[in-house]
Amino acid sequence: MDLHQPGTIRITCAPGLIGYLGQEVEALGYTLSASKLTGLELIGSLHDAMRLNLFLRTGFNVLFLVARFQCTNPDELYKNINAQPWDQMISPDEYVTVVSSVDTPSITNWRFASLKAKDAIVDRVASVVGRRPDSGSKRDHFVVHLYWKDDFCQLFINTSGRKLADRGYRKIPHKAPMQETLAAAVLLATGYDGSVPLVNPMCGSGTLAIEAALIASGRPPGLLRSNFGFMHHKEFDADAWQAMRREAKKIRRRTPPAPIVATDVDPEAVRAAKKNAETAGVHRMIDFAVCDFAETRMPHDKGIVILNPEYGERLGEVSALESTYKSIGDFFKQKCSGWTGYIFTGNMSLAKKVGLRASRRFEFFNAKIECRLLKYELYEGTRRTPE
Ligand SMILES: C[S@@+](CC[C@H](N)C(=O)[O-])C[C@H]1O[C@@H](n2cnc3c(N)ncnc32)[C@H](O)[C@@H]1O
Repeated sequence: MDLHQPGTIRITCAPGLIGYLGQEVEALGYTLSASKLTGLELIGSLHDAMRLNLFLRTGFNVLFLVARFQCTNPDELYKNINAQPWDQMISPDEYVTVVSSVDTPSITNWRFASLKAKDAIVDRVASVVGRRPDSGSKRDHFVVHLYWKDDFCQLFINTSGRKLADRGYRKIPHKAPMQETLAAAVLLATGYDGSVPLVNPMCGSGTLAIEAALIASGRPPGLLRSNFGFMHHKEFDADAWQAMRREAKKIRRRTPPAPIVATDVDPEAVRAAKKNAETAGVHRMIDFAVCDFAETRMPHDKGIVILNPEYGERLGEVSALESTYKSIGDFFKQKCSGWTGYIFTGNMSLAKKVGLRASRRFEFFNAKIECRLLKYELYEGTRRTPE
């Protein structure tokens, strides 16, 4: 099997991130052939899939197409999947996981589709090689994705294995952490590139500050991970992967990035954030402090200041947060003139308590909650908006 043979690559992402993912993919030199709500496609090889896994900050999974076929029942599913050359892709010593998304009248239980697909794959390997690979639900070896919609099936190798959001640095998640891919997209929305200071009060487990440090130093997030789905492909070229990693390390920015400050009132949050930054290898780039957000030291006279306050789920929590949001407005006005302020929140009525006019709103989702990233141009004499 030629790892440079072009095929179809599909990259999935969380809802709301497709625009950022598309920008990233194009910046890596690829042309998009299709784009949907939570995924886009391009023509590329397994070698390209490795590269995308290494560099992408906002994608979830890089999938490589094996086959597309019509299918109306489980027997046809088995036959079509068994016809693929799995023996050339999977060693009998490997472990196979099938993940299915099924929406067809032909079958009511997606587990049955996964089981049938898994049997078809391991039977094919056994029929050629004489031994069956192991199988189960772990997603850290050879992972296959099956999409079965109506009478049409698409079958992919998941070259990422686990989601790319699992960078591997967040050993201590703390409270309500932001997913790493979402944090990266939020930073891309602000235009952050490491050339201006970034201040992140209410840093929690440090995801925004850590992702910022990775962007600022030009470090691809894939350098942090030691395991990807593509490594379990029979033809995995470990030398090509090491060469790609070495190249990626060389393109790190040479100029030192502007300061990054991360603070939180909770010492446990700062402890977690420091530990996570250490695991990500960026702790020396971030200045951590335990303090109320309003006491955060601003290292310069301009830059980006970004807060992700809690937005509460129950009524009591929400009303208790009103004064926090109002104080963020005071902090912006009193300590941040000259800066560009951002608030990431899932509660727009709380956001109104900030009392400043947002110059832009970016739509996001945090899990299923619709969120906004609100941008504030802060200048001397910034005025409160009437509530
Ligand atoms: C939603 S969490 C932030 C999550 C963070 N983005 C992450 O990825 O882990 C909100 C954080 O605000 C902190 N916080 C709440 N009130 C604060 C205050 N008055 N000053 C500073 N931090 C505060 C909490 O301790 C919590 O860590």
